[in-house]
Formats: sequence, C-alpha cells, structure tokens
Amino acid sequence: MIYVIAFICALSGLLFGYDTGAISGAILYLKQEFGLSSGQQEIIVSIALAGAAIGAAFGGTLADRYGRRPIIIVTAVALVLGSLVTGLAPSVAWLIGGRLLIGSAIGIGSFVAPLYLSEMAPASVRGTIVSLNQFAITGGILLSYLVDFAFAYPGGWHWMFALGAVPASVLAIGMTFLPSSPRWLVMRGRLKEARLVLHRIHSASANLELDEIRNSLSHQKAGFGVLLSPLLRRPLMIGVVLAALQQVTGINTVIYYAPTIFQFAGFNSAQGAILATIGVGIVNTLTTVIALWLIDRVGRRLLLLVGVAGMTLSLIVLGAGFLSNHGSPETGRITAIGLMSYVGFFAIGLGPVFWLTIAEIYPLRVRGLAMSVATVVNWTTNLLVALTFLSLVDLLGRPATFWLYAVFSAGAFVFTWRLIPETKGKTLEEIETHWLHGGETYGIE
Ligand code: BGC
Repeated sequence: MIYVIAFICALSGLLFGYDTGAISGAILYLKQEFGLSSGQQEIIVSIALAGAAIGAAFGGTLADRYGRRPIIIVTAVALVLGSLVTGLAPSVAWLIGGRLLIGSAIGIGSFVAPLYLSEMAPASVRGTIVSLNQFAITGGILLSYLVDFAFAYPGGWHWMFALGAVPASVLAIGMTFLPSSPRWLVMRGRLKEARLVLHRIHSASANLELDEIRNSLSHQKAGFGVLLSPLLRRPLMIGVVLAALQQVTGINTVIYYAPTIFQFAGFNSAQGAILATIGVGIVNTLTTVIALWLIDRVGRRLLLLVGVAGMTLSLIVLGAGFLSNHGSPETGRITAIGLMSYVGFFAIGLGPVFWLTIAEIYPLRVRGLAMSVATVVNWTTNLLVALTFLSLVDLLGRPATFWLYAVFSAGAFVFTWRLIPETKGKTLEEIETHWLHGGETYGIE
C-alpha cells in the first residue's frame, strides 16, 4: 500500500524535474520563433523559479489548513493547465503567464509531496519512501532531456511543454484515490479517520502510533512565533542553511547548462553536447537508486558526508580541467568525468537528503510552515545561482567559478558534520520530542 501511494505521489517529483528541465531545449526554438531578446529568454527561463519561490511561501499554510492531499491535487490541476497554456501559447505573454503558473505549482508540490510521504511512511522505510520523490525528480529531468531531443525541430516546443499535461493528469486523478495524511487528520481532531488510515498502511502498530501522535501533539503549539522560539531555532536554521547549500554548490548550473559546459570543454557539435547531457541525466537517476537503497540502512548523515566530500573533490577536478588548453581532448575527458562524478555524488547525498531532512525534523504543528520557509530559500537560491552562473564565468573564469562552488561544498561537509542529526529509524514523534526537550546531538553517537 505505502509503495503504491509513493509511486502516485512521486509523480509530483517527476513533474518538478520535467518542467524545470524541458525549458533548456525549448528555449532554443522559442528564441527563433518569437525573436526573443536575451532579456526575454531570461525571463521565460527564470520566471518559473521565481514562481516556485512565491508558491512555496503560501504552500505551507495551505497544506496545514486544507490538508496535504488536496493541495497536491490542486497543484496537479494547475500543472495540466500550465502545460496546455505554454504548449499552445500564441504569444510571449502567454508563455510567461503559463511558466509562472507552472512554477508556482512546482514550488508548492516540491515540498508538500515529501511532507505527505513522510507522514504516511512507517519509520523503518521513511527515507526510501520520501526519496522516491527525488528519484522521480531525476527521472523527470532525464525524460525532459529525451523529449527535448526527440522534438528538436522548429515547432517541436509545443510538444515539449504540452506533454507535461499527461503525468499531471495522472497525478491529479491518482491522488483522489489516496488517503489523507494520518498526522494531519490527528492535528485536525479527526481521530477516527486517522485510525482507519493507519490501519490501512501499517496495521500492526496503528493504535500505538495514533497514541504517539496524539501525545506528541499535546505538547506543541502552532504559528510562526513558535518556529522562531529558542527550542525550534536550531532545526529552522538547519533547514534554511541546507536549502541554500543544496543550491550554492552549483547543481543546477549543470542541470540547466550542461550542454554549454560541455561546449566550454570542446564538445564542438551541439548534438554531442546534448548527448553528453543525457549521460548526466542517466548518472543522476541511477545514482539516486543507490541512495534509495542505502538511506534507511546507513543513515542520512553518512550519505550526506560522503556526497558533499565527493562533490568537493569533483568540483576541484572540474575547475582544474578548465585550466589546461581549451578544447583539447584531455579537457573534454576531465570535464566529462568531473561532471558525472559531481552529479553522482549530489544524487547520493545533498539531492535526496535535503528534501528528506526538512520533511522529518519539524514538529507536526509547524511542519508545513517550516518546510515552506526552507523551500522558499531553496528556490530563491536556485534562481540566484541560475542568474549569476554565466556572469560568474565571465568575471572569475571557468576554473574559479567551479572552485567557488567547491568552497561551498566543503562548507556543507563541516555543517553536516557538526549539525545535521541522524534520524534513521526514528518515528517523526521521537524526532519532535527530541527538539522539544532542547536536544542538541540527537542520534549522533
Ligand atoms: C534539487 C533541484 C535539482 C535536482 C537535481 C533536487 O533535489 O532541489 O534543484 O535540479 O535535485 O536532481
């Protein structure tokens, strides 16, 4: 049952990946057809990221008030509409409007899906279940690269956008059959329904879990003020800093600009660069499978530490690759290896573990709100990095740009080492209790 739930809900992640990835191929043809200026191109690309930050700001309050499931359904319907509007757009204004709608829906879905999954899953497999959403994100990115490749002809952009309506419709319909989050039901005082859901998903411990959720709720207060209270300041800071670190270490320069980076390295044909980009997408997806398998076995901290250490080394190599003669075969080889291993290490650590951490570490009454805050920071930083990458390359040069990301990555290692708690195998209620008792080094032996 829980796996069926996860596969349907993770379509939200697939759309996250698809809709953020598809634009990279589409923009080339939009530019020709509408005669777009660079400014207009930048708006069309980045409006979705800005929309995501705006959507995320409202998503938490909405998910706490109306429930996680209805909000995911609304975002799916918005994505169907947005895909059709952009797919059929007769003018630049329609494109921008459609991208803004898609972005807002993605921003909300990006954290409400992991939130819903973490509240449904039994503690022993929660890491894998929540990270299926990250797996779907990577699958969506890969799919968008393949679709862009398949429709790479004038006018093909209509399909690149419109096809997003298919998984969005399946998500909207599929979610209507799934139960509400039992934890949200308890928070709204709907105990009978909560018990039924818990029985359906993990019957053996249902009554015990219900008591645990009720018990832990009785110690909690809601609201923004509570989030800033001394007891919760630390988890709030962890979510916000990890959100920024996930982006300032540069992942989306690779996801959005991989063909450009491969061209820097001497892959002369656009086709060669695009094929190499598909290779990046495949590495991203396959390595995420390793994370899914390990995350409830070795824990979140170890994956994160190995992941960011590997990213740091790969970024150093990548920068060094650009020091040698531009366009030589060695540069091409070093860049390709550096990029692939960088993406692989992101996929086993910072990729899944960020979304999982923010879905696990907050008490129920402020969970939606706190995840909202961290997600706004994530999308805003994503936007900033995307907007500054090419200027940074002009300003600092290629090696130093990647080394700058390496410095942030090394910072992520220290931050993880010192502050990220191990939450493997604990129930959400055990984690809450820990913070509410002023815990410092939870789970870190
Ligand atoms: C990040 C995205 C990124 C993706 C790549 C996600 O966890 O939030 O910004 O594009 O991973 O796989």
